[in-house]
Amino acid sequence: MKIKQLPEVKMFQGYHTLFVEGEPYVILGGEIHNSAASGEAYMEEEVWPYLRDLEINTVVAPVYWECIEPELGAFDFSTVDYLLEQALRENVRLVLLWFGLWKNAESMYVPIWMKRDRKKYFHCKKEKGGEIPTISPFCKEAVERDREAFARLMAYLKEQDSSQRVIMVQVENEIGLLGSERDYSPTAQEVFSAEMPKEVREEFNLSGTWQGAFGEDAGEYFMAWAFAKAVEEIAEAGKKEYPLPMYTNAWLEQFPWRAGIYPSGGPVRKMFRMWKFMAPSLFTLAPDIYVPMVPETMDMYTKQNNPLFVPEVRKDAACAVNALYAVFGCHGIGFSPFGIEELSMEPEKIDRIPPEVMAALNIDPAAFEVEGSAEYLKRSYELITKLLPLYYRLRPAGDVYAFIRKDPREQGTVVRARGYDVQFDYKRKEPGKPEAGGVIFQLEDHVFLIAGTMCSITFHSKMGSGKTAELIRLEEGAWESDGFRPRRILNGDEKMFVSCKDYIVLYRAELLTV
Ligand code: DGJ
Repeated sequence: MKIKQLPEVKMFQGYHTLFVEGEPYVILGGEIHNSAASGEAYMEEEVWPYLRDLEINTVVAPVYWECIEPELGAFDFSTVDYLLEQALRENVRLVLLWFGLWKNAESMYVPIWMKRDRKKYFHCKKEKGGEIPTISPFCKEAVERDREAFARLMAYLKEQDSSQRVIMVQVENEIGLLGSERDYSPTAQEVFSAEMPKEVREEFNLSGTWQGAFGEDAGEYFMAWAFAKAVEEIAEAGKKEYPLPMYTNAWLEQFPWRAGIYPSGGPVRKMFRMWKFMAPSLFTLAPDIYVPMVPETMDMYTKQNNPLFVPEVRKDAACAVNALYAVFGCHGIGFSPFGIEELSMEPEKIDRIPPEVMAALNIDPAAFEVEGSAEYLKRSYELITKLLPLYYRLRPAGDVYAFIRKDPREQGTVVRARGYDVQFDYKRKEPGKPEAGGVIFQLEDHVFLIAGTMCSITFHSKMGSGKTAELIRLEEGAWESDGFRPRRILNGDEKMFVSCKDYIVLYRAELLTV
């Protein structure tokens, strides 16, 4: 197959940016439920109809090792074929999730032939004995089989995906070990008690054993090294066949902050250094965010030269403004609420995740409340799509400012723009409504475009300038390819108090300093 320009992540205007067919591309996506992509008819009937009206440009969908290699060495890519066909028809791109050796810290998606041969494909063990349902990253044969299968998948995509539907691939899913801080299998024990490998000694400038070097955190560093090493082998083999951008995702470090209660060795912030140097084939480490602190987590995952991609995030009403902040505040590559098909479903159709599963996954149940989310998210995605060209135009001069309430105690914020300070007073958080937040574009010295939710806006001249800022024209409208299109001019009662409610509004404000 001939592809002119492969999707790639490269620096653009000083930020990591995804390019698709040579153009900057922001993933305004949604991840479908885990089992959705395993049936062609199911996708047709239960998934695509619910995605059509959401303004998403990318679907994040799993491919399952158990389906593509049902017999050892015999491959069946039919689950990939229909995803490619359907995505083309629906005019969306795909991010494929490789559910291989590890998914949510377990090995539930490995083929049955692998599940049956527990001697060869051995599991991690707990300190006091007892197996964990996770194949050990020290099991060379298992990693080799996964490497082979993943390379075959990537070679197949290169051959078949002529319309370039697949733009990115996630290698494994929420990797790590639950139930123990580290693997105590005999093979792991041997490695753990020996001197640390040279690459780790050099990178961390430490010597001796894992225990001696990392103390109480030794188990987590050890597992991060082992998992990252395995993922690198798998990703590298896949990229050799077809070099699409690849990443892996994290189940976040959570209370009670003990490795093994959240997956030990996964790409949590504390383990970034180990992951970054052991798995250079990954362009980023992505957070799955179900905790209430979505904006802070997104900020955190832009540190250490880590471009932000959010493959899974809570889908309550807050997702609309979180999406805006991911793109314009964190310069993110993409944003994708989980279980996206549920947003537009009739409530009685939703196959709700049982509370026990939510608890086992340490997910805040409120993260899955979808009332209002479809319309909020749709409007947000629509607006982002329209504003992206303007963003690329104004970003180099620093004329784009995003804001969001990160803590319930925050009363507001003041954006220090050129020539003016713009004050946003946050409204009280209401259940089922988005958070306060938005973005400002300074179009000219005295002209601003403002998109926001749940806040009121006041303009000030700069302190010490001896001037007063006067709002001489306020319009509400939409941004189109040829610029701002006013829907109405706000004056009189409507201009005395400039306010954004739950649905994002777009204002054009013209000011004067007197
Ligand atoms: C995080 C996982 O990565 C997803 O695949 C899914 O299991 C969600 N948790 C919860 O439904």
